[in-house]
Amino acid sequence: MVREALRLEREAVARYSEHPAASSDPRLVTYWESLRRNEAEHRRLLEAWLRARGEDPDRDAPAAQILGAGAPDADEGATDMAANAKDPGGVGRHPLPPAAAGIRGHATEVAALRADYDFEDEAVAIYGHFAYRAEDHELMELFKELARGEAGHRNGLRRTLRTVEDPATPVILFCPLCGWQIDFGADPAEGTEGKCPVCPGRFALRPDESGDWTLERLAP
Ligand SMILES: [Fe+2]
Ligand SMILES: [Fe+2]
Repeated sequence: MVREALRLEREAVARYSEHPAASSDPRLVTYWESLRRNEAEHRRLLEAWLRARGEDPDRDAPAAQILGAGAPDADEGATDMAANAKDPGGVGRHPLPPAAAGIRGHATEVAALRADYDFEDEAVAIYGHFAYRAEDHELMELFKELARGEAGHRNGLRRTLRTVEDPATPVILFCPLCGWQIDFGADPAEGTEGKCPVCPGRFALRPDESGDWTLERLAP
């Protein structure tokens, strides 16, 4: 169970390293980075638990995962572990309602957040079940604590999705020229222009074919 949990945490760290790298929204980048740190701490706790019992945390793990590069699709391991979570004793799942229609400009981020939500929802169930199965008291407490953390991730992701899907939330993107933040206001139309507050960058919002905002550079 500890090795399964460690695999889950390594997948979580990979997931929350990839998602912020692909985002242009400073608020989402910050949140994903906080999740990455938290999952790295979970990983550390599990590695410490193994080391304290004379076990090598990296035994049997694929090299790519140890290095944190080229990790397999984060959903693969989670699917394997879903089988465990379905045993009696697991805590219930809380699926999200279907995606709200008409969200403009954030298609990839919304899809990533929804997948993250499902991943965390499954992790809560898995850790609930592991805690139930653990015979060692300290290990049971560790799994319970991890379940609390993942439940917080799930709830935070639900809130974040609500905010991203709310048309009243302003569209704020990194300036492609200097990395500062450009505010395009709430519910902006295609072609809305924004000026970077700290550099000469001027941009117009354009949706791309995947449904994400891109920034078209305008003459200064
Ligand atoms: Fe975790
Ligand atoms: Fe998590």
